[in-house]
Amino acid sequence: MTDKKVYPVQPDIAKNALVTAEQYEHMYRQSVENPNEFWGEHGKRIDWIKPFTKVKNSTYDYNNLSIKWFEDGVLNASANCLDRHLADRGDQTAIIFEGDDPSVSRNVTYRELHEEVCKFANVLKEQGVKKGDVVTIYMPMIVETAVAMLACARIGAIHSVVFGGFSPEAVAARIVNGKSRFVVTADEGLRGGRAIPLKKNVDAALKHESEANVDCVIVVKRTGNDQVPWTEGRDVCYEDLMAHASAECDPEPMNAEDPLFMLYTSGSTGAPKGVLHTTGGYMVYASMTHQYVFDYHDGDVYWCTADFGWVTGHSYILYGPLANGAITLLFEGVPNYPDSSRMGQVVDKHKVNILYTAPTAIRALMAEGASCMDGTTRDSLRVLGSVGEPINPEAWEWYHRVIGNSKCPIVDTWWQTETGGILIAPLPGAVDLKPGSATRPFFGVQPALVDNEGNLLEGATEGNLVILDSWPGQMRTIFGDHERFIQTYFSTYKGMYFTGDGARRDEDGDYWITGRVDDVLNVSGHRLGTAEVESALVAHDKVAEAAVVGYPHEIKGQGIYVYVTLIQGVEPSDELKKELVQWVRKEIGPIASPDVIQWAPGLPKTRSGKIMRRILRKIAANEHDQLGDTSTLADPSVVDELIGSRASN
Ligand code: WT7
Repeated sequence: MTDKKVYPVQPDIAKNALVTAEQYEHMYRQSVENPNEFWGEHGKRIDWIKPFTKVKNSTYDYNNLSIKWFEDGVLNASANCLDRHLADRGDQTAIIFEGDDPSVSRNVTYRELHEEVCKFANVLKEQGVKKGDVVTIYMPMIVETAVAMLACARIGAIHSVVFGGFSPEAVAARIVNGKSRFVVTADEGLRGGRAIPLKKNVDAALKHESEANVDCVIVVKRTGNDQVPWTEGRDVCYEDLMAHASAECDPEPMNAEDPLFMLYTSGSTGAPKGVLHTTGGYMVYASMTHQYVFDYHDGDVYWCTADFGWVTGHSYILYGPLANGAITLLFEGVPNYPDSSRMGQVVDKHKVNILYTAPTAIRALMAEGASCMDGTTRDSLRVLGSVGEPINPEAWEWYHRVIGNSKCPIVDTWWQTETGGILIAPLPGAVDLKPGSATRPFFGVQPALVDNEGNLLEGATEGNLVILDSWPGQMRTIFGDHERFIQTYFSTYKGMYFTGDGARRDEDGDYWITGRVDDVLNVSGHRLGTAEVESALVAHDKVAEAAVVGYPHEIKGQGIYVYVTLIQGVEPSDELKKELVQWVRKEIGPIASPDVIQWAPGLPKTRSGKIMRRILRKIAANEHDQLGDTSTLADPSVVDELIGSRASN
């Protein structure tokens, strides 16, 4: 059994760790027994313009659900990431930028970043952005993206970052849903030596979507491609505006519960939802988890390989590290460009001490063989982190042995866009590691397992993962749809936050996340709703019906398996498969590309018409022998037909 394999806390790590095993136990107990005292104390880790007098005001009581933290405190997130460091570490590097091109890198100090952010904050104001406005940021991984996010925070605008890999349609939907009148983008992005047409995509998004009401598009020059089209009166040039902007901009005093940002994520039904995070609790939680989970010490070089387009980029490239005065590495490129030694090269070049990446990246390197680390020593590494999906023990061992030279603890961090920060992870100086287990809850987090009826399960067992009480970093609402927020997270099991994940708890009380129990896919650590992909497919005029499920995929963790029923009279063909793949890429983005399309003359449905995905998942995984009960199907013969045609697919 893999759970028998334990990597005990390393004495060398424990010796200098911020939290030891005894301290963890003590602090954890205090955090759940007396949250007001615990968070009242740790809430002081950030700077408040007006200190809070109230700490926790939250209840999961279904009929009067309320989540508030530090509610009478006033602060500014950008001041916490910048201004407060100027006196002590103004000339210290805040961001190490490592370009897509390995010969390009530069360091930005806290003072320089502060100046840029103040200037851009003034630019935003000049363009008419006001406190509470939503600014859409569709950018590559460059310093200006951090500047744009922090500048929004500085003036109290809500940023909505849209991943640069999303299609114009996806950008448009997010602009419309957020009622966003401002967009910040770049002429082009650069990834793996290829240009990404960001501005062109914004143009297409705004043209395509008549409901989009955008007054102003601010365009950063990244590649300088002068073919990028320009709409006079709407498009403005970042560099021109920055050239005459003042570097003085007082941070806007924000209430702890004022919104800081929103970020769209996929659910099991409907369109992606705008997860809204507020200022005070989020900043306390992001900075505290960043410091303790990665055992961050002053001067450490920290590299999180995520993209700003995901929550990991928000909490653990930007807000957490900068609030802690850390040195955070910002990487524009991809791990296999110019070749698969890039990750090791970047670690050596910048003497990275803490590396935080995703299982899918590790598996992709693993597939190259250990030679992808040739020519690099990675001696500087001290702590490794994993996030995004369950890490399989083989990938864990490889990460530990090959990348970390068998000397770095791996913190497997379980959390979600909704949670704002890490909820379950081993603190490197305190908790023994088990490959594949996220182990123990962070301070203030009370995980539990319930059966499908919501009964709490005790001891070593498996069930649905819920959290019993609020923590400061939790999302507060779905932008524009509070009812959906309550429905999605608090109605399945009354009085509890439902994560959508399943988990197992072992004899030691350690948690092992088993994956989503709802209709959400996790493809290369990216979340996708099956319903989203299905609705993209049925929007194609040759498709009558579609059902999407995940199946085990060697590198991606989960691949996308699509069953398509064509309109009567349309002939299936390989060309049509290609067309449908392109179609989905265009509707959502390349991350949603179907891996397998199977033609399905019929889909297995219950008599009430509900598609039985459980059966489709088994067929996709080639586990036809474990179909379970099919007697409730309206037409059981559909199943045999699908199994038969799968073989010839
Ligand atoms: C879902 C959340 C949190 C930032 C990245 C993804 C899965 C995430 C782990 C982990 C097992 C994990 C869960 C979760 N997940 N980290 N360490 N072990 N599963 O954020 O896009 O909101 O996705 O990712 O299924 O619910 P997200």
